[in-house]
Amino acid sequence: MDQPFDDPDLPHRYRGKVVLVTGAAAGIGRATALRLAAEGATAWCADINGGGAAHTASSITDRGGEARSSQVDVTDPAACAALVAEVVAGSGGLDVLANVAGIGGMAHFADETPERFNRLFSVNAAGPFYLCQAALPHLLERKGNIMNLGSTAGMIGQAYVAAYCASKHALVGLTKSMAIELGRQGIRVNAVCPGGVNTNILGDFLPPEGASMSLISRAFLTRDMQEPESVAALVAYVCSDEAYYVNGAILAIDGGTTTG
Ligand SMILES: NC(=O)c1ccc[n+]([C@@H]2O[C@H](COP(=O)([O-])OP(=O)(O)OC[C@H]3O[C@@H](n4cnc5c(N)ncnc54)[C@H](O)[C@@H]3O)[C@@H](O)[C@H]2O)c1
Repeated sequence: MDQPFDDPDLPHRYRGKVVLVTGAAAGIGRATALRLAAEGATAWCADINGGGAAHTASSITDRGGEARSSQVDVTDPAACAALVAEVVAGSGGLDVLANVAGIGGMAHFADETPERFNRLFSVNAAGPFYLCQAALPHLLERKGNIMNLGSTAGMIGQAYVAAYCASKHALVGLTKSMAIELGRQGIRVNAVCPGGVNTNILGDFLPPEGASMSLISRAFLTRDMQEPESVAALVAYVCSDEAYYVNGAILAIDGGTTTG
């Protein structure tokens, strides 16, 4: 279900805005790029999967929207800086940074490896940090904002995903700290924290042998999944000027899982 560009009810909150979306080759990142472009943004679609990012960009331009794409590995600080420089040179500035790229992983805590722990932190927490730092001067110029794609795993503990959970809590901590430090300078920084989205990343979350299903099921109030467009719609609000007073918010979109 791709965002319909011809939906007459869609607001146009992003006319004249430039947005950079990582993880844009698939899932929530793709849905976010399509949604913001459908609302008038020039969407820079970035992903380690350069072909996938290019495909998302052409899905936008085929529908009459504005988009460009770049290949980036968010774990490389120099590549993150180069990406932001490319966006600003190509589009004249930057209004919104949406850090969506991420990876998952599931293991018994006792079996988790330092390599995978570090990899999860590199992609899910360090990558957004590099991009936030590179984007900051440009966002300050336009009083822009940042949206970090967290997770319910950034709000509560969950079984068999200790490293993923820690990386998403780190991202939430980064979000809160930046929001306080930068809020008076006119920059908003928020996190959107979904649970249960129907995307490819679910392949990273196969329960390890011997896992307790009753512990795993604590992370889901309902068995129903949401589609990535549902998350993109919340992102589209949070990153728009309508949400001018939303700063440092950790916004769950999880069917109620994190309520208790
Ligand atoms: N699907 C869910 O249930 C769910 C729930 C909560 C949070 N999330 C978060 O949503 C975000 C998007 O995931 P998704 O569900 O759309 O999954 P997805 O696998 O469809 O998308 C993730 C994208 O990130 C890209 N990516 C991975 N490593 C990268 C790197 N080093 N540099 C650049 N790009 C990289 C992938 O190529 C992919 O296109 C992730 O941060 C994930 O943790 C997903």
